[in-house]
Amino acid sequence: MFGIGFEELLVLAVIAFILFGPERLPEYAAKLGRIVAKVREASSELSRQYQNPFTYPPEPAADAALPAGPEVACQYCGHKTGQEFAFCPKCGQRQQLDQYPPPLQPAEPTVEAQSPEASGESQTASPQIRPLRQDEIDQALSIINQAAQAYNGVIPADCWQEPYMPEEELRAEITAGVNFWVYESEGRPVGVMGRQDVLDVTLIRHAYVDPEFQRQGVGSRLLAHLLKEMPGPVLVGTWAAAWWAIRFYEEHGFKLVCQKDKDRLLTTYWNISPRQTETSVVLADPKWLAIPIYHE
Ligand SMILES: CC(C)(COP(=O)(O)OP(=O)(O)OC[C@H]1O[C@@H](n2cnc3c(N)ncnc32)[C@H](O)[C@@H]1OP(=O)(O)O)[C@@H](O)C(=O)NCCC(=O)NCCS
Repeated sequence: MFGIGFEELLVLAVIAFILFGPERLPEYAAKLGRIVAKVREASSELSRQYQNPFTYPPEPAADAALPAGPEVACQYCGHKTGQEFAFCPKCGQRQQLDQYPPPLQPAEPTVEAQSPEASGESQTASPQIRPLRQDEIDQALSIINQAAQAYNGVIPADCWQEPYMPEEELRAEITAGVNFWVYESEGRPVGVMGRQDVLDVTLIRHAYVDPEFQRQGVGSRLLAHLLKEMPGPVLVGTWAAAWWAIRFYEEHGFKLVCQKDKDRLLTTYWNISPRQTETSVVLADPKWLAIPIYHE
């Protein structure tokens, strides 16, 4: 019902251009984006509840981090509310993030990435792309921190830390809504990639492939799988010095945005330090680039 597509957005953009003029367009575009995102979220939530009234909201996992009792605090604004609320009544953010990975709409099935013969890999088990499991956090950290060694000595020294991603940071990202997927090969994850829906766009976050498996198509297959499920515009941020990562995304149709857009996007959609903003770039997919009101 609320499936607003790009054509509709383009029509709205033209109307907005006529009504408000070019100066105020970015402001109104951001407002419109926020409204569309909220309506979509509310719409999918309603239909989920309608389609499955007896199992929604989902039962908390056995090892759920939420405290027992009738009230829980919103992870975003701290507002105390009942466990039955899917969204915080105060700030509107999705609750129930103790379920990992957070529910996606629609449920994304595990896919077979590619047959071992076709990929040229000598594997005994078929590679799979599937959500990261809670018991695989250590394996994900190991992949991320090994692959992130590529940054060591390349990104500014004051941006480097060892380990590059501590466990608490990864867990905080998961809690903040980054939904990690893995590429499993030989029965274990060898690549991870996250997606995060923020306002009117989806971000690709934390893409890392075990160095032993790099440049064999793992990252490409993970990215293609995530992009397939994303209806709206997609953005990705990376270090300006990580030329190989920029090349990787460019090969998948992403383009670097200009400096002014980059600063605005990193501030709007990411929660990173001013220093990281200064030393990062943003690449946008063709869907984002096709909407003139989004960029300079
Ligand atoms: C970037 C990354 C996720 C890509 O995954 P991958 O499985 O290696 O990528 P694919 O095999 O699907 O694609 C390889 C392409 O990516 C680019 N690329 C990736 N690593 C590269 C490297 N070390 N040197 C040059 N190009 C590289 C190239 O365009 C390459 O194509 P080519 O082999 O034909 O030249 C992975 O290399 C990685 O983890 N790198 C270190 C961490 C990182 O930079 N992450 C990005 C965070 S946003």
